[in-house]
Amino acid sequence: MLKLGAFLRSYGHHVAAWRHPDVAQDCFEDYVRCARTAERGHFDMIFLADNAAVYAESAEVLSRSSWTVRFEPFSLLSALAASTNHIGLVGTATTTYDEPYHIARRFGTLDQISNGRAGWNLVTSRQAAEAANFGRDLHLEPAERYRRGREFADVVCGLWDSWDDDAFVRDKASGIFFEPERMHVLDHAGEFFRVLGPLNVARSPQGRPIIVQAGSSEDGKQLSAGIADVGFTAHPTLESAQAFYADVKGRVARAGREPDAVKIMPGIFPTLGATPAEARAKFDELQALVDPAVSVMQLSAFLGFDLRTYPLDGPLPDLPPNVMTASRPALFHAMARRDNLTIRDLSLQMAAGRGHRQIIGTPVQVADELETWYRTGAADGFNIMPPLLPRDLDDFVDMVVPELQRRGLFRTSYEGTTLRENLGLRRPRGRYAPQMS
Ligand SMILES: Cc1cc2nc3c(=O)[nH]c(=O)nc-3n(C[C@H](O)[C@H](O)[C@H](O)COP(=O)(O)O)c2cc1C
Repeated sequence: MLKLGAFLRSYGHHVAAWRHPDVAQDCFEDYVRCARTAERGHFDMIFLADNAAVYAESAEVLSRSSWTVRFEPFSLLSALAASTNHIGLVGTATTTYDEPYHIARRFGTLDQISNGRAGWNLVTSRQAAEAANFGRDLHLEPAERYRRGREFADVVCGLWDSWDDDAFVRDKASGIFFEPERMHVLDHAGEFFRVLGPLNVARSPQGRPIIVQAGSSEDGKQLSAGIADVGFTAHPTLESAQAFYADVKGRVARAGREPDAVKIMPGIFPTLGATPAEARAKFDELQALVDPAVSVMQLSAFLGFDLRTYPLDGPLPDLPPNVMTASRPALFHAMARRDNLTIRDLSLQMAAGRGHRQIIGTPVQVADELETWYRTGAADGFNIMPPLLPRDLDDFVDMVVPELQRRGLFRTSYEGTTLRENLGLRRPRGRYAPQMS
């Protein structure tokens, strides 16, 4: 069975979605509605991205974009935990501008209050602008960010293992609340962190919340292989998704894990219509609302390279080597060169799928493509990015999900109670649990 995530963001994933007459308001009730819709469609999880800065290169251009303010994902997911019953709740938190003890506590608690539905999207922070909000002059270089991210994840997992499942005996007669030998003190000292532990949150229903990793560079793939349960990724073509899938699964095996222990879920930006022409008209309608200044700003932010001084109808310039080491700039650069795209063309493509696979068509056409990706070693599931919310999530759940179910590719009821069970992942043994002989 393939896995599905609903990638939610205010208004939807199209850069101009906020200007469309059918768009949702950016309010809590709309998130509740979308989370419940995804749950009605038996999605594995909802997913919230995050960064801790406003991209402020130009206030004038920024003032024409909706991607300025957003809810803090952790608070939002905690509220959504009380409004849903089955769906996984995955939120982004940064290893560059946060502390492992904070993250371990928050996700450990979210796992408790949601009865085992929490997931952490581990990011090392893409936006350099975040540095200035945390007392730093410069964003860390990618290699250092990933070294810190790896140590950070190791500390978080160690803290989640602080207590055995049955540590808290709460024996009223003897007065023993927990068994001391079932508490484990991490006592970590490494390159970036010194953390004593134990965590002041009990071991959670999933053992450990799910870890999602969305970096796709060499360092990102290694991090996924070592610690991730789910890998989110962006691929515009089947071939690049297949190559990525084989690469990561190979790394997972070399790291001594079952290849199936990491689910690879590329993003999909689907525009649906009853006929191909209707789908195309919906897509074109949103594209016509794009302000080129905004789409170029978005492209610059994604590249980490300012394009405003280059001619809009000229070619994408060669990008410096330090920019090209990250996965998405390399992807955009390759797309631009392959299809001979101008900055305007590339920014318009970005305005829709941001480098993720765009499918414009009928529910059957969308299901055909998802099936091909699933059956030909490109994906274990998909992170669905509706262009316009709530309309396009409603349509996906009402039209594509039944088609996938008819083909026997997707569940008709939840298999388990936790996110881990629904994803078909083993509950991890704590690092202090006795080794099996
Ligand atoms: C689906 C998806 C969601 C992501 N969400 C975030 C996010 O919320 N915040 C962030 O800083 N980076 C996010 N990223 C970026 C990655 O975590 C990573 O930092 C970026 O891809 C650069 O690393 P790389 O060169 O290893 O890919 C996301 C990437 C993907 C594919």
